[in-house]
Amino acid sequence: MRIAVTSDIHVDKNGPRALEALAARVRALEPDVLVLAGDVATPLTTLLEALLALRPCAREMVFVAGNHDVWSHPLAQAQGVDAWTRLDRLLPALCLEAGVHDLDASPVVIDGVGFVGTLGWWDLSMRDEALGAPASAYVTGEFGGLRWMDHVFARFRREGEDVPYAVVAAELRERLRGQLRAVNADRVVGVTHMVQFDSQLVHKSHPGWRFCQGFIGHRALGDILAADERVVLSVCGHTHSPSDQQIGRLRAVCSPLGYRSEWLGRPDVEAVERAVALVEI
Ligand SMILES: [Fe+2]
Ligand SMILES: [Fe+2]
Repeated sequence: MRIAVTSDIHVDKNGPRALEALAARVRALEPDVLVLAGDVATPLTTLLEALLALRPCAREMVFVAGNHDVWSHPLAQAQGVDAWTRLDRLLPALCLEAGVHDLDASPVVIDGVGFVGTLGWWDLSMRDEALGAPASAYVTGEFGGLRWMDHVFARFRREGEDVPYAVVAAELRERLRGQLRAVNADRVVGVTHMVQFDSQLVHKSHPGWRFCQGFIGHRALGDILAADERVVLSVCGHTHSPSDQQIGRLRAVCSPLGYRSEWLGRPDVEAVERAVALVEI
């Protein structure tokens, strides 16, 4: 099976030309399955357009949401459109319309290969302890003049209250466990938006970057995938640093496009070429 992997295409920031170039790149690879591991766009119209543009480029396409895909403006939040609404109602509807398998909603078996997945959520397990940021900074998302914007735009509400992020992370982690139990396949591909393994992190010295590291991953997601002998490939996004590693039995791939400002002046065609990994399993 030929699997094309990409994530973090941020179409609302990178523009339609990047999407066109990406679609052409995926089409040229002739994959059986395209795995899109989150951070497509915050505006739902743009998100749907991206799914519709990419869908014909592969025989099948699977998606998990990224944190930016469940963001909503505070005005929309006030009208009840919180991150749960985006994740569990609006994104499944868009995927249905586009003919894309929404792994956050349910696993799928394609040609005998199981695909499971979740947005997942950061649980601070990969935070930089040596930074010495107080626990309260991780609660507010503010440290040293920097603000992690999930705290503003990704609000998970239930019965009028914010659900603590630790609870969100645990709930989505259990969904992944449940999908692995449910999926009936000898080989499985596990997809999360959140980073799964510490080795997928890129360390930088800037204090702001070191603070943000707390909001990048959830170590138990990797542990769960690595513990299931059927999982041959795991895919994540969220970090905009690509990696391709062998971790025990499984191959762990992250192949993000990232923001235009991170392309270091490369033209769109060159940036998208680096952003799509082709994995054969
Ligand atoms: Fe991203
Ligand atoms: Fe992200």
